[in-house]
Amino acid sequence: MAGGEKVDYVFKVVLIGDSAVGKSQILARFARNEFSIDSKATIGVEFQTRTLLIDHKSVKAQIWDTAGQERQAPPHPIPPFSSLAARPPQFAPDSYRAVTSAYYRGALGALLVYDITKRQSFDHIPRWLEELRGHADKNIVIMLVGNKSDLEDERAVSTEDAKEFAEKENLFFLETSALQATNVENAFQTVLSEIF
Ligand code: GTP
Ligand code: MG
Repeated sequence: MAGGEKVDYVFKVVLIGDSAVGKSQILARFARNEFSIDSKATIGVEFQTRTLLIDHKSVKAQIWDTAGQERQAPPHPIPPFSSLAARPPQFAPDSYRAVTSAYYRGALGALLVYDITKRQSFDHIPRWLEELRGHADKNIVIMLVGNKSDLEDERAVSTEDAKEFAEKENLFFLETSALQATNVENAFQTVLSEIF
């Protein structure tokens, strides 16, 4: 859409999931129709925007992307109270919490991404969901995304398992390929339309 045109709505959407599942490349595909095979791990928080038409209204999607890496460890189980005092000081726990809160603040949609070739990235989805539900608006629209569907030969998570999990947790679900541009548009469109 050309600059200077009026924007009717701005919707914040966050990307979450383990490192290397393809969050940044999903965003690059959606925002700029680009893909990079030697994508670097994200450091800190980035966002990109794209304006699209939904029901004849111009909606600016503001998509936030952060590193799966440093955010992978927490949310950890809370230790029993008695062991709190004995716990060694952690690296900047308050700033971790502050960044986490800021990341989710005002988000109306989320893409919860795993890699269909990495079982662990799917097994971590409940933790990401817990963090999301703990910090985001309770009406947030969530799409479970199994990325790298082009790597069918290396599949480690069945479509059925993911679908079942998504139904149980009331999430939308799609398998995508940022590489082949499969369902990326669909994933964002579905979330944005549902917010709308
Ligand atoms: P962090 O920033 O560390 O959290 O990782 P990320 O989730 O942003 O992953 P990123 O987008 O950087 O992608 C990681 C690697 O997977 C890169 O080598 C990408 O090129 C590759 N990749 C991303 N999407 C796809 C895909 O759909 N298919 C294939 N085959 N590779 C992909
Ligand atoms: Mg990234």
